[in-house]
Amino acid sequence: MRTPLVMGNWKLNGTKESVTALVNALKAPAAANPKVEVAVCAPAIFIGLVEQLAAGSALKYGSEDADIHNSGAFTGENSPVMIKEFGCKYAIVGHSERRAYHNETDEVVANKFKAIQAAGLVPVLCIGESLEQFEKGETNAVCEKQLKAVIDVNGIDAFKNAVIAYEPIWAIGTGKTATPEIAQNVHANIRALLAKYSKDVADSVQILYGGSCNAKTAYDLFKQPDIDGGLVGGASLKAPDFTTIIESATKAL
Ligand code: PGA
Repeated sequence: MRTPLVMGNWKLNGTKESVTALVNALKAPAAANPKVEVAVCAPAIFIGLVEQLAAGSALKYGSEDADIHNSGAFTGENSPVMIKEFGCKYAIVGHSERRAYHNETDEVVANKFKAIQAAGLVPVLCIGESLEQFEKGETNAVCEKQLKAVIDVNGIDAFKNAVIAYEPIWAIGTGKTATPEIAQNVHANIRALLAKYSKDVADSVQILYGGSCNAKTAYDLFKQPDIDGGLVGGASLKAPDFTTIIESATKAL
């Protein structure tokens, strides 16, 4: 039985005031839903604040990205070791916005995944197809290519301590959630691919759905057998909506 994980991805949003209010509001639902793991991934500059606010609570947190390097002349970057020092459990890697706006290739993503894991963080690997690829029926092929690139560099056992997030790009921030059936089919295919390497890994790895997962759509998604929670953008910025999503994960158990 896989533990559901509901993770917020705040992206480039927040102020000291809003972060404080949001983290404080999420501590109670995180505690009240003990069978669900709840986490928020924050812009790097807010991670220290989240660390202070979340101390002693059930709320876990992480970064939205990490550099490949741990130190050196890489102006503007945040290293996995630094992120770990601030108490993060997770680091998102390969989000489609990083792939698109920061030219992160499959190779870069695979190496970031390695650096994140080496620092003792759990990588949350995002994969997913564009609208054009979806319309051409290339969804599974795209996901397999993105996943294989990481397996080739890190090995299948690396997924014993990692999370996968399937995020169709056409659903991100558009309000067009993938139907539970579409998402379930892709998740099952991802698990089938992993099973070719290791049945243990395929059975144990958490596969989250992301892309307009919200208070209305979360329950039906989380009811699907291969969907183990959500990576939530917009709706994770509103405490009542994110709370409903956390509760949906408990209800769907
Ligand atoms: P969204 O974003 O929930 O706002 O669609 C999800 C994500 O990009 O992780």
